[in-house]
Amino acid sequence: MGTRPAAIPVSETKLRMAQMMTPNDANYLGKVFGGAILALIDLTASATASRFCGMTCVTASFDRVDFLKPVEIGELVELDGVVTYVGRTSIEVTIQVHATDLREAQRQHVNTARVTMVALQDGKPAQVPRLICESREDKLRFLEGRLRREIRAERVKEMESWYKKIEDSHDQELDRLLSSVESLRLAFTDENPA
Ligand SMILES: CC(C)(COP(=O)(O)OP(=O)(O)OC[C@H]1O[C@@H](n2cnc3c(N)ncnc32)[C@H](O)[C@@H]1OP(=O)(O)O)[C@@H](O)C(=O)NCCC(=O)NCCS
Repeated sequence: MGTRPAAIPVSETKLRMAQMMTPNDANYLGKVFGGAILALIDLTASATASRFCGMTCVTASFDRVDFLKPVEIGELVELDGVVTYVGRTSIEVTIQVHATDLREAQRQHVNTARVTMVALQDGKPAQVPRLICESREDKLRFLEGRLRREIRAERVKEMESWYKKIEDSHDQELDRLLSSVESLRLAFTDENPA
């Protein structure tokens, strides 16, 4: 087993996976099932992160994934993974997904996904190499990744506190919220306490 470098440039983390979409990937409308694309995103994230750190990586979280356009059966789906941010044991992989109708040679961007993977050794989170940001683009992507990590953590806390407010409401209050409130957050302000 070779020794892992302590730091790896972003340019060396790029990895492309490609797959033709077959009828096995179809949903009831005859388009590609969203879950088939998510599975390919997860595989690309796993391969990109594992090659970067030389360890097994598990998926810790997916950021919001928007399906911008339907993917058709018979199209070629290409997934370009790159490491955009690393923490101590976690690796954020950004994946650009394109679908091409090979008869028309029309390549369309259908998705951008961000997946956080965690490196494991003996079943425990393990330290990963540092990421060397060479270009301005690399630096921007790294700082944005850091920002996403901070906002993700804040959002989890914020959502939990809103859920608690709803759960602590008495039944009459829940009925009022269900029937008339346009903004739940405003309904819980001081003027309208639960
Ligand atoms: C991901 C996992 C290994 C983290 O374990 P943990 O005990 O929370 O570990 P730690 O608290 O030490 O966190 C380790 C790293 O993971 C990150 N992390 C943990 N949960 C996370 C989440 N939900 N989203 C993003 N990052 C997360 C932490 O920020 C930390 O990053 P850092 O070292 O770069 O600062 C653990 O939750 C796990 O095994 N989850 C299941 C993974 C899996 O099976 N995925 C496939 C699902 S089928």
